[in-house]
Amino acid sequence: MIPNDLRAFWMPFTANRQFKSAPRLLTGAKGMHYRSADGRNILDGTSGLWCVNAGHGRERITEAIRQQAGEMDYAPPFQMGHPKAFELATRVAGLLPEGFSNVFFTNSGSEAVETALKIAVAWHRARGEAGRYRLIGREKGYHGVNYGGISVGGIGPNRKSFGPLLTGVDHLRHTHDLDRNAFSRGLPEHGAELADDLERIVMLHDPSTIAAVIVEPMAGSAGVLLPPKGYLQRLREICDRYGILLIFDEVITGFGRLGAPFAAQRLGVIPDMVTMAKGLTNGAVPMGAVGVKAEIHDAFMTGPEHMIELFHGYTYSGHPLACAAGLATLDVYEEEGLLTRARELEEVWEDAIHALKGLPHVIDIRNFGLVGAIELEPMEGQPTKRAFSAFLKAWEKGLLIRTTGDIIALSPPLIISEAEIAHLFDMLAGVLRELD
Ligand SMILES: Cc1ncc(COP(=O)(O)O)c(C=O)c1O
Repeated sequence: MIPNDLRAFWMPFTANRQFKSAPRLLTGAKGMHYRSADGRNILDGTSGLWCVNAGHGRERITEAIRQQAGEMDYAPPFQMGHPKAFELATRVAGLLPEGFSNVFFTNSGSEAVETALKIAVAWHRARGEAGRYRLIGREKGYHGVNYGGISVGGIGPNRKSFGPLLTGVDHLRHTHDLDRNAFSRGLPEHGAELADDLERIVMLHDPSTIAAVIVEPMAGSAGVLLPPKGYLQRLREICDRYGILLIFDEVITGFGRLGAPFAAQRLGVIPDMVTMAKGLTNGAVPMGAVGVKAEIHDAFMTGPEHMIELFHGYTYSGHPLACAAGLATLDVYEEEGLLTRARELEEVWEDAIHALKGLPHVIDIRNFGLVGAIELEPMEGQPTKRAFSAFLKAWEKGLLIRTTGDIIALSPPLIISEAEIAHLFDMLAGVLRELD
């Protein structure tokens, strides 16, 4: 089953030449493990790519997809509907914080972000404040790869090759502060005042020009950057003071990653819109969504009833296979208590990851929910190389980790056992001891 020609597939976010010279091919997956093409079991320390929260190959989800494919393959979502899209929207709205009433379906996290940004600007316009068009992101933020997302995003390499990006965008400072917060357990103590940066930006541009602020409640892709205690509360207060919408990008944190259905609930700060994807279908069929509060949705429901209220949508919004997968996924999450399981495992997880302190090159360890990060001292003049070499060594030992810059990020399926947590960190300690 191993392909003999790897040239045609231009792989995303991959060192293509390195990969094709020594391919790492996955051919199967069940529970906590992948199967590699050379017949090894690989412990999944990353839920695929933060998606597979219920573990791999869940029969209930597979069966729901199979049945739906036989019953109805596709239904147009424009001016037509199918029952499962309505059912899934209702279920997702029920998991979101109080006040959230409606869900707009997309096919990815990137599309969810574009959708949320467009709804934010259009909402102000619908209310007669068309002057509010500015979008505020944050340094080190990741909001997918489309033009809106990279414009509000704050990761240099994702932006620099792609021209002038959106106008009317500004960025808050990031909150990564090893000097004050290294080796914090849970949320870091220092940095709430960084939220006041929003006040500075508001004053610079005038509040009447600002539509929305978008942040990840916990930044994942930049290497697990946790919000300092009180930081998100302060952002919320400033947004309220100036009539600015607050969007939480929960593509990674949604569906139980931090021990509650959404980070908003775990962290006690309620935004106006939530973007999600990944865990929505347990990664089995691509799907994203935006949840909005009633006052946002309702502001569009004016004008003649035969008119389209929002000129936006995708051919595959609410695709029947994705909806079937989503409904079965939510059943599994709910029946197995997975949306809160990270909270139960958090202490064991925290102790296990912090036990790596003192190993060579480790300059920080962070954790929250079932997420962890180990930051390594970069090699002199060769940033990212040390972490990438950890990734390759882990793969050889039978562990899938994710690295970004010189940071190792961990986010295993929420079904992980305590014994598997111990095994994961055993393997990782072995990797760290072997690093140059
Ligand atoms: C916070 C956040 N937003 C958006 C995205 C983009 O999602 P996708 O890759 O499905 O487009 C990601 C992906 O990792 C993400 O972490």
